[in-house]
Amino acid sequence: MFCAFLHIDPACCHQGRLFDLDPDLLPLFQYNCKQFASPQECLSAPEFLDHIRKVMLVIDAAVNQLENLPCLEEYLYNLGKKHQAVGVKVESFSTVGESLLYMLENCLGTAFCPDVREAWTKLYDAVVKAMRHGWDT
Ligand code: HEM
Repeated sequence: MFCAFLHIDPACCHQGRLFDLDPDLLPLFQYNCKQFASPQECLSAPEFLDHIRKVMLVIDAAVNQLENLPCLEEYLYNLGKKHQAVGVKVESFSTVGESLLYMLENCLGTAFCPDVREAWTKLYDAVVKAMRHGWDT
């Protein structure tokens, strides 16, 4: 997957980091009721690679709607609800956020200055804030 905004390939270091940070997330990614035996198996599954694309599309949409994030609120609320239904804990989104920052740092190098980190943190936090309403009701 290619994030149109960043022109980098997040699959290289984003989600591998996710399982380093929290191996307990692995069982949440099940397709056709089949559990992955290892993070490596999951990282090479087409369905999981599709999920990486889905995450990056949401981030991309947020970047494109930066001046008008409320227009994504309903979509993100429903997305949060879907994640609640598949057993994701809202705290796990912080782990995804850490993986995302890790990827950006690795791919952008010195361009990833404190201001850039802060901007990405704020954007991701806004996405999670809207998704977390899915756990409220
Ligand atoms: C769907 C797990 C974080 C975006 C799903 C599905 C699972 C899942 C099991 C359903 C199967 C699939 O489509 O692959 C998780 C876990 C996460 C996580 C365990 C973190 C711990 C995120 C984040 C985003 C996201 C942070 C976006 C910012 C999506 C989207 C879908 C999806 C767009 C498709 C929803 C649909 O079909 O309507 N996720 N996810 N996920 N996820 Fe995640």
